[in-house]
Amino acid sequence: MKILVINCSPKKETSLTYKSSLFLKKYYGKEDEFKYIFAADGRFPEENYEDFRNADLVVLCSSLYHFSIHAQMIHLFSDMEKNLILSEKCMTYLTTSAHNFDQSPHTTVRLFAERNNMYYLEGLSLADVSVLPLRKECSPKEKFHGIEELYTWFGYTKDCAEMRISGTKKKLKAEAEVTILDTYETETAENQELIAEIKRKYESYGGNVKVIALRNYNLKPCIGCNACYTDWQCCIKDEFEKAFNDIYMDTDILVNVGEMRYGLLSYQYKIMHDRQVQYGRRNFIDETIVLFICTGDFTEQEMDCFREHEMGLQAMQGFFIADFVNAKDGSMYLNVSDGIYKTVAAYDNDVLPPTNYYTISLNRQFARLSVELKPFTPKDFEYYTKTGWLDEIQTFPVVRPVHSLEESMHMLKMRTIPYDEMLEKLPDTVQITERRAEKHIPISERKRKV
Ligand SMILES: Cc1cc2nc3c(=O)[nH]c(=O)nc-3n(C[C@H](O)[C@H](O)[C@H](O)COP(=O)(O)O)c2cc1C
Repeated sequence: MKILVINCSPKKETSLTYKSSLFLKKYYGKEDEFKYIFAADGRFPEENYEDFRNADLVVLCSSLYHFSIHAQMIHLFSDMEKNLILSEKCMTYLTTSAHNFDQSPHTTVRLFAERNNMYYLEGLSLADVSVLPLRKECSPKEKFHGIEELYTWFGYTKDCAEMRISGTKKKLKAEAEVTILDTYETETAENQELIAEIKRKYESYGGNVKVIALRNYNLKPCIGCNACYTDWQCCIKDEFEKAFNDIYMDTDILVNVGEMRYGLLSYQYKIMHDRQVQYGRRNFIDETIVLFICTGDFTEQEMDCFREHEMGLQAMQGFFIADFVNAKDGSMYLNVSDGIYKTVAAYDNDVLPPTNYYTISLNRQFARLSVELKPFTPKDFEYYTKTGWLDEIQTFPVVRPVHSLEESMHMLKMRTIPYDEMLEKLPDTVQITERRAEKHIPISERKRKV
């Protein structure tokens, strides 16, 4: 594959994003052809128009400036729209940052791609130091090395791009368990036909598929009694735990299918959310690959609202969301097939759930609450203490004060030294950690284990 990596950070060669992106070539450079270029001044270099035309996959790279892309990228986007043929080009986005509001630039780049009819693959938000060896202050959610996050995400992205360009499709690894969650409040011939079609598709990839209709469970809504905070037990006696086990136990890929209503999927689906987030907070739902397939009469804004909401939940629950498929009317089958293939590629590449602003900030917020409400939430306090979220954060050793441009230049060079050393030392193959290790364990046993 021909891969064009466009680095937009104003720091050019001393950019940490650039340094992190070099790790892609280190790992994939034998099978793929990489070209690295800089576009930091808001212009796409004319001498690289040809490289863009020839690229199978474009990786846009940037850091974050004040919760968004750099100003220069606004001009870069106009320049690209004016001078390049963007339609149908596969593109993704790699950022490094302090994980502070990092979803916002990712939304901006996705919208730029969608405006120009590009085939956009969800980007990766790396913490600025996460390709370096693990440091003591890493949060439990960052227990995996950032290199693993980078490599599995890129393998997944490449497979999706490959499928788009040449139609080449891989099969699911033999043992993959797929659960289709039918969230429709009422059964119709049309929605059952869609579910049967999704089931057939997964079976053609070699998956073991089961279909669960959420409406068949006796589920009562959360009444906010707070027993789950104090005792980690839900006071409502109904079929919630059974539904939870049926949906998540042994599941590798979860496909939520339903009618979008007010930016949400259905009454029963929201009941599950309201009651299962308690488990997400304690990492009980491990690394499920999730696909949403939405039908009904809904607006783009409703889809965006749904996406934002699910991204927050995903961060709490250790999900990797492969796609939000708009399966309205005529577009149904093309979009559905594409979404399904993304889950196959995600599974085959053992993709990691993303670490991002939501993951960090939501966990920190719940950790802080567990201190403030200690008598009320003793188990949460114990959990967040044990898992390290309440540990003091330590200072990164190469950081120095900066008072002038000269000092800044010196400091920027110093920051990149560990990256160059790491790149030099890194072996060609990186051990990828086994995923979904707890998937056979029922929720009651997982609760006892913590
Ligand atoms: C002016 C400025 C604004 C920044 N704003 C954010 C921010 O809003 N959120 C964040 O997570 N990181 C922010 N950062 C941190 C950078 O995104 C981060 O250090 C990044 O890794 C730098 O990458 P680079 O060396 O490739 O430019 C900011 C850095 C600077 C210099």
